[in-house]
Amino acid sequence: MGPPVRIHRPLVAASLMLCLVLLTDGTSFPKDLEPISRVSHQYSFLYPTFQGLRSDNETVRLGLDFQRMTRINQMLYIAARDHVFAINLSSSAEEILPQRKLSWKTKPEDLKNCAMRGKNNDECYNYIRVLVPRNDQTLFACGTNAFNPTCRYYKMVSLEQEGEELLGQARCPFDSKQPNVALFADGNLYSATMADFQASDAVIYRSLGDRSPVLRTVKYDSKVLREPHFLHAVDYGKYVYFFFSEIAVEYTTLGKVVFSRVARVCKNDLGGSPRVLEKYWTSFLKARLNCSIPGDSFFYFDVLQSLSAVVEVNDRPAVVGVFSTQANRYKRDPRFICIY
Ligand SMILES: *[C@@H]1O[C@H](CO)[C@@H](O)[C@H](O)[C@H]1NC(C)=O
Ligand SMILES: *[C@@H]1O[C@H](CO)[C@@H](O)[C@H](O)[C@H]1NC(C)=O
Ligand SMILES: *[C@@H]1O[C@H](CO)[C@@H](O)[C@H](O)[C@H]1NC(C)=O
Repeated sequence: MGPPVRIHRPLVAASLMLCLVLLTDGTSFPKDLEPISRVSHQYSFLYPTFQGLRSDNETVRLGLDFQRMTRINQMLYIAARDHVFAINLSSSAEEILPQRKLSWKTKPEDLKNCAMRGKNNDECYNYIRVLVPRNDQTLFACGTNAFNPTCRYYKMVSLEQEGEELLGQARCPFDSKQPNVALFADGNLYSATMADFQASDAVIYRSLGDRSPVLRTVKYDSKVLREPHFLHAVDYGKYVYFFFSEIAVEYTTLGKVVFSRVARVCKNDLGGSPRVLEKYWTSFLKARLNCSIPGDSFFYFDVLQSLSAVVEVNDRPAVVGVFSTQANRYKRDPRFICIY
């Protein structure tokens, strides 16, 4: 693949999109998604549960809003709205009680700005969307912080904050409805999300390294990323892989069709020369994930729903993905598993 070609999306289209987003999302925010399947209370009551801040009236109204879970050895860290919980998985208590908890709330002036920019109160919280280990002692966390994304370091053991706050742009979405993934590899943060308030600037971004330059994908180029839904990032060998679904540019005649992709960047990418692709990836490549059943014509499962970590399958490293068909095409929404 040659270097990506730069195309500017017309401003009109961008502002139209913003209007649509505002219209369709007006009232339903945020509420947890409906589960795909449920176990009845009859079975679930046998197991210990953790329901977040039950004493918090907002939790009752908004839902639990758990955003992320990260397991590091015996500890399970749960990033939530305004809070991070640390649960010790070795303790055998009947009830799951966080061993530690931290609160990270949005400052009043940021709340005021959020309201002034037309967002409703439910959106103006700190939805903590990034929670990844930076090394053996430190966690890196970023929250939407009422549409002013911000990052912090925390000590893993005590959940005490360490050092200064950092800007969260391109590391964490502004809007908690937008997807994102992040990981540290060789001291660099690799993140993929929407890097602006309008959620029109999709980016795969590297930052915070001592020796590697900050790099990103080319802006507003629909051949690079088109309305991506990021699902997973994998650090493997010399590369970092990003798994996502996006609107296919290949089939413009059929309306909006979703394809799933894997994109890859080289960890030793230094960016382009000052004249070509400076500060941009030179190693960015992506491919369609083909999950299909042969027949008279191929039946494609094009929407990646979930992905495993790297596992051994037949003595080879692989990832296992669960795919579904395009939304609303079939009543029963069939699912299929593919291995790569
Ligand atoms: C939660 O709601 C109850 C009943 O409306 C009220 O008495 C209580 O003070 C509220 N608690 C908080 C923390 O706002
Ligand atoms: C978790 O609990 C186990 C058993 O109670 C204890 O030995 C261990 O030190 C705890 N871990 C942490 C990180 O506190
Ligand atoms: C998907 O994979 C099948 C089996 O390898 C192949 O026959 C088919 O052409 C592929 N489809 C696309 C769109 O590449």
